[in-house]
Amino acid sequence: MNKTLSNDFRQAKINKKDEFYTQLTDIEKELKYYKEYFKNKTIFCNCDDPEDSDFWNYFSINFEFLKLKKLISTHYEREKTSYKLEISLDINKDGKINKKDTIKTKLLQNGDFRSPECIDILNQSDIVVTNPPFSLFREYIDQLYKYKKKFIIIGNINTYSYKEIFRLIKENKIWFGRSIKSGDREFRVPDNYPLTAANSRVDEFTGRKFVRVKGVRWFTNVKYDEMYPDLKLYKKYNKSEFPRYDNYNAINVEVTKDIPFDYKGVMGVPITFLDKYNPNQFEILGMCASAGYDKDIVGIPFEGKKDARPIINGEVKYARIFIKNKNL
Ligand SMILES: C[S@@+](CC[C@H](N)C(=O)[O-])C[C@H]1O[C@@H](n2cnc3c(N)ncnc32)[C@H](O)[C@@H]1O
Repeated sequence: MNKTLSNDFRQAKINKKDEFYTQLTDIEKELKYYKEYFKNKTIFCNCDDPEDSDFWNYFSINFEFLKLKKLISTHYEREKTSYKLEISLDINKDGKINKKDTIKTKLLQNGDFRSPECIDILNQSDIVVTNPPFSLFREYIDQLYKYKKKFIIIGNINTYSYKEIFRLIKENKIWFGRSIKSGDREFRVPDNYPLTAANSRVDEFTGRKFVRVKGVRWFTNVKYDEMYPDLKLYKKYNKSEFPRYDNYNAINVEVTKDIPFDYKGVMGVPITFLDKYNPNQFEILGMCASAGYDKDIVGIPFEGKKDARPIINGEVKYARIFIKNKNL
């Protein structure tokens, strides 16, 4: 395969993940924790085909229950102009505000979340709730911060390692949602999606296709109930179980629940620590995941020679987040 072809292939593989549709049950399980927040808010679903999206379905069905002010969703077209749907008033005068009160309006542009028209809508909205395209996740978050927007979006845990996103996690400006802490989730895929993997299935009744995805998490900057339960620590520090890294002045903790309760120094913990992270209990100093050392990301001095990944007795460990117990 020549270079351009292989790049195209990689790109196509990445973009396929842009068409994974979130299921209503997963949406309900997370959004129930934000009911109070949604009151009198304008919600924008800006990466949704509203006629097919369960984000649109969820908000249009629950418009009155959540006491929403307005619901807007734009539809994205690659190369032609598109449209938006809106609900805000009891248009059909049946005494209820729901899907039947939808107004459809043509857009002048293609509904790209970065288009001036969609940015105008973003500016009029209080919060964005959706599953953005995987390949544009970084750009998507950057835009939300640029326009100072609240959001609840679903994505992959691995995006924590993007420099900009990790910085926001470290500064406690973005956190994981409440309903997904582990395991995989099933997403619906388009009918023409090639189902080759063992983690996929066709529903025998509807004929619709589904793929299971690992490492799914909600990302948000909206506070929800019981955000920070304390992680109960029970293990006493000992040298043999918590060895020091060859290249950092920090000890290695294999499993988050085993973080020693009496260790005052820096500890390297697995990425899934973020599911349990309570900023009143721990401080995140940085993260080491790649071979090149970047002081801003790693957060503590590098004491090795070349490889900046966490190493113990010459063996490279998985990516680690460096933390300190704040209460010791
Ligand atoms: C991961 S899918 C999720 C769809 C829907 N939000 C859901 O969860 O069911 C991302 C959607 O974003 C759309 N999309 C891709 N690029 C986009 C862009 N630049 N602006 C807006 N939407 C885009 C895709 O067509 C796709 O439908």
